[in-house]
Amino acid sequence: MNILLIGSGGREHALAWAISGSPLCDRLFIAPGNPGTAQCGENVVIDIADHPAVIAFCKLQKIDLVVVGPEGPLVEGIADDLTAAGIKTFGPSKAAAQLEGSKGFTKELCAEFDIPTAGFGRFTNAAAAKAYVAEQGAPIVIKADGLAAGKGVVMAETLEEANAAIDMMFGGGLGAAGAEVVIEEWMIGEEASFFALCDGTHALALASAQDHKRLSDGDIGPNTGGMGAYSPAPVMTPALEARVMEEIIRPTLAGMAKRGTPFKGVLFAGLMITAQGPKLIEYNVRFGDPECEVLMPRLKSDIVPALLAACDGVLDSFDLRWSDEAALTVVLAARGYPAKPEAGSVIRGIDRAQALDDVLVFHAGTKQDAAGSVLASGGRVLNLVGLGKTVAEAQARAYAAVDAIDWPEGFCRRDIGWQAVKREREG
Ligand code: AMP
Ligand code: GLY
Repeated sequence: MNILLIGSGGREHALAWAISGSPLCDRLFIAPGNPGTAQCGENVVIDIADHPAVIAFCKLQKIDLVVVGPEGPLVEGIADDLTAAGIKTFGPSKAAAQLEGSKGFTKELCAEFDIPTAGFGRFTNAAAAKAYVAEQGAPIVIKADGLAAGKGVVMAETLEEANAAIDMMFGGGLGAAGAEVVIEEWMIGEEASFFALCDGTHALALASAQDHKRLSDGDIGPNTGGMGAYSPAPVMTPALEARVMEEIIRPTLAGMAKRGTPFKGVLFAGLMITAQGPKLIEYNVRFGDPECEVLMPRLKSDIVPALLAACDGVLDSFDLRWSDEAALTVVLAARGYPAKPEAGSVIRGIDRAQALDDVLVFHAGTKQDAAGSVLASGGRVLNLVGLGKTVAEAQARAYAAVDAIDWPEGFCRRDIGWQAVKREREG
């Protein structure tokens, strides 16, 4: 079969790598892709926002399945338009993508279907929001309702910070995303990401991972898209995973189906493991980036039949095998990230890193010049993935790969995996 994958990040390189390994895949196209995905299939230039153009491409190339990587096109309804044109598409409808597109939507769903999450209020004006903050006290969490590229959450330690965030959001500081504001109780615990494949009715647990959102070692500095991740997350024991499926994922699917907007695709639950048990922080409606880069190397089964089963509503008869090994990715970012990454510097040593045992390299913001050199062209640029029996072993391999790269204009965190490694040491 012919498959079109949409996106251009490290997540898409990892997906392209997994999909291209399937015996079911004849031709794989990636739009727009990156120099890494070009090693797995054919990169194509299509304007993803132009749905008729995407449909025309699918008809021309006899595409049997479209896999949508990022949330943007899903929230814009690309799955609806492709499906209406008779093209099988992995990813939720526009209505179901509201689980990521609107924090308020998700909080209301949790309230309606008893899904454990932080206490909250929803506001459309600053005065009411400030009155709520005054009543609740600090610390407190202020969130823009809409998609804000990871900048929409302010963890306010004081009332002053909370009020300043409210003014910033209603003052248009985050554009339309801040027209509505959600204010939440600040939950305490360890964070984990959990992924489940969904077909509208049934959910199949995939795996857990842990991300590192802050820019710098020791989890300090501004939030980023993610500076590194590992899978599985040791905090997610089998018993906790079963609770998450039972208390969070399945009620969400049932609630979405009951509302007439069934969810198909990957449900990515951001969780806080609190003293009272797992609680939902937020949903994303796609694989995480860089979480996908550590999930795909651990997946032993063919991913393509699983994606098809999710599209066709037959996940109940499905199972996937996972490696017991740990995978850990370190993100190399361009100097200036996240505020203003510098583009255009040359990255050397990728082949050297790739040649190491139990190492994979996934490209994100790279491009190739006419001479074949790889250049930085984004914020998060490369993922160096190590595999090992323990997170510590995977970590050592990932950093050996980092050290094989010659890129003075790039940087990374040096402590990816610290929580798991500490847990392993304390045994
Ligand atoms: P988000 O952009 O919604 O993923 O939130 C970014 C980060 O803010 C999360 O990964 C958490 O670390 C933190 N966060 C968000 N909401 C809460 C909450 N209610 N309590 C504690 N931490 C939170
Ligand atoms: N790494 C977090 C995300 O993909 O949203």
